[in-house]
Amino acid sequence: MPDQALELTAGYYFAISPRLLFPHSRGSFGVYLRLKERYLLWAHPDEPFSDENLQKLKANGVDEVYVLAAHREQFEAYLEGNLGQVLLDDSRPMAARAKVFYDASLGMLREAFQNRLPGGLSAQQHQKLLQLATTGVQFLLRESSLKSVAALISHHYQTYSHCVNVFVYTTVMLGRLGLPEETVVQTGLGALLHDIGKTRVSRKILDKPVKLSESERQKVQAHPVLGAGLCAGVPLGQPALNGILFHHEWLDGSGYPAGLEGAEIPLPVRALAVADVYDALVSKRAYAEARTPFDALSVMRQELESHLDPEVYKHLVLVLSGAELL
Ligand SMILES: [Fe+2]
Repeated sequence: MPDQALELTAGYYFAISPRLLFPHSRGSFGVYLRLKERYLLWAHPDEPFSDENLQKLKANGVDEVYVLAAHREQFEAYLEGNLGQVLLDDSRPMAARAKVFYDASLGMLREAFQNRLPGGLSAQQHQKLLQLATTGVQFLLRESSLKSVAALISHHYQTYSHCVNVFVYTTVMLGRLGLPEETVVQTGLGALLHDIGKTRVSRKILDKPVKLSESERQKVQAHPVLGAGLCAGVPLGQPALNGILFHHEWLDGSGYPAGLEGAEIPLPVRALAVADVYDALVSKRAYAEARTPFDALSVMRQELESHLDPEVYKHLVLVLSGAELL
């Protein structure tokens, strides 16, 4: 039960679904309930979430609980430690796992929309993007796709959160480029799944802090083809499959797996590739520190024409500078 009242403004908290609190687990963040403008502590940091208390939340129709914004990292670490296992737990009904996946993905997408686009979004743009994201995530709720994505979340959570960020940049750019909504949705799905083949690459290689050996590099470079194979049973449209298969193709033909050149690489895939490189540069990786958006864009500028599409790049710069977004 709540035992402490805090009167802080809403900006201090972010909302999560109580379905993302898993019985018998614990996180190093407090969980709050909101009563009008007051936030009441419901669970202390490191206090286990009991089945009984979670059931009470459900019985009372609570569909949002709150975490201090300052504890976002701790919440992320909790999800990283628990989400994959919960999604792969066959003793839980598939429908319940689908809801958990839906809530987790939408939460991650919301966070990316709010914090990764410095210019912010108008309410209308936000609504539109969320609708696209919801369509994409709903598609992934099919059992065949959910199992693949759950395997990725369990195998390498950072790769899934990278996919979510790439979805955000890609859909915003494609919206600006005026592509049909169906193409945007399908390419967005491709973005969410683009690195799914990494479930077949060992964590040791994915997290290696130094340069990969030749054989390790080959294993990593197999991920687009492996990913397309893993999605064979998923009824994806062509733009989604193109994204999975061709996101490492470069304009000068030096990419993989097919060595496509220039306009042979479809425009939506060129946008996905720009988003992919940008998010990799601004994220902390095993072998590199996170760069600032400005540094990342400077690095990418040197790869224009040879690797990345300059027109698409221009749209990313405009998106990030907070110019009109959609
Ligand atoms: Fe990739």
